[in-house]
Amino acid sequence: MSSPADGQWLNEPDVSERQALLAQYKLVRSVSENLCSPLLAEDCCMQTMPDVSPPKWHLAHVSWFFETFLLKPFLPGYGEFDPYFAALFNSYYEGAGAMHPRAQRGFLSRPPLEEVYRYRRHIDLQMEALLTHVGDDQWRDVLFRVTLGLHHEQQHQELLLTDIKHIFASQPLRPAYRTAENSEASSAAPLEWHEYPGGIYEIGHDGEGFCYDNETPRHRIYLEDFRLASRPVTNGEYLEFIAAGGYRRPEYWLSEGWRTVREQGWKAPLYWQFKDDGWQYMTLSGMHVVDEQEPVCHVSYYEADAFARWAGRRLPGEAEWEMAASGVTVSGNMQDAGRYHPISARGPGMAQLYGDVWEWTRSPYVAYPGFQPLAGTLGEYNGKFMCNQIVLRGGSCATPINHIRASYRNFFYPADRWQFSGIRLADDR
Ligand SMILES: [Fe+2]
Repeated sequence: MSSPADGQWLNEPDVSERQALLAQYKLVRSVSENLCSPLLAEDCCMQTMPDVSPPKWHLAHVSWFFETFLLKPFLPGYGEFDPYFAALFNSYYEGAGAMHPRAQRGFLSRPPLEEVYRYRRHIDLQMEALLTHVGDDQWRDVLFRVTLGLHHEQQHQELLLTDIKHIFASQPLRPAYRTAENSEASSAAPLEWHEYPGGIYEIGHDGEGFCYDNETPRHRIYLEDFRLASRPVTNGEYLEFIAAGGYRRPEYWLSEGWRTVREQGWKAPLYWQFKDDGWQYMTLSGMHVVDEQEPVCHVSYYEADAFARWAGRRLPGEAEWEMAASGVTVSGNMQDAGRYHPISARGPGMAQLYGDVWEWTRSPYVAYPGFQPLAGTLGEYNGKFMCNQIVLRGGSCATPINHIRASYRNFFYPADRWQFSGIRLADDR
């Protein structure tokens, strides 16, 4: 490979752009490893349910993404670290060849964790070479794919935290991932209703900065007048629903939701346990008494919908949520705050649109009018999941702060509740 001194690889105008991207690359990659630093090698192998991936698998898979979509197509003479990794760490990309079954990621006691870290070092060295030497003719493609790869790694950083929580909650000893803060208990702000006038609005990404393909194209929508709660539903409010027989009365539930309640024996949100005459829950700092002022978390779409019916309200549509959030500065209790747990809402005004808990909407995850997935195998990133899932908005206490925006569409199946998912109510004026 030629060196930059040859003069054909780099030209002055984009040197700083390359350096900035490399710095960003190193920063994002280091966050993943920092998040895993409190773990034992044994923790890193665990898969406690099919939706959970072992931390070791996450660490390898995000590296596989750079190898598959950048190093193999763009770095001349790239040598694979291990040819078996191509299938072991392929998540769901049919266009990228064979893949190890998702539910069997916990079988992978080999390669050992140290080998996965060596794989990461290999990928990082090769990525540095690519970013330094790639020709200007390929730079735009590489810039886009690296940016996508970094946002992909940030998504997996959130999944690392939610999966570690599930892994630790499955241990009889209920270990703490982090030390709890001695934070002062504070009351949640009183609930207010904010009114929004109906009309024709635009939603979807506005073209400034990065977005996923599923946020495009920006398009017009029509909304009726609506109201949105100023903060998410609290644990205290959710306890009232439980006390009112919420989990025993089918009239509040969607048919599929009620079937799930009975089949799964749900009596409370995931991670809640009735103990010593009160509710406790597992957090990333171990077991604690449920704080009634915090937003309720780890509820499914079915539970969010049932709560809303019981309360005489409804869930917001994703367009309503986005209209309310557009123009609101992204700030709040997110991964960067290091709590990995929702906190009580501070008022006055609209609170916690970003961070704390993902907010279930009532919108099915479907393509926007005119949607075109990315070309080639990367088109499998989002588009092929547009069936039977529900959109969530706003990010959580596990989402990196520079990973969320008003147009961001997260999506999960309606029964899923291991993400930091909560409830914001809406109603018709
Ligand atoms: Fe992935």
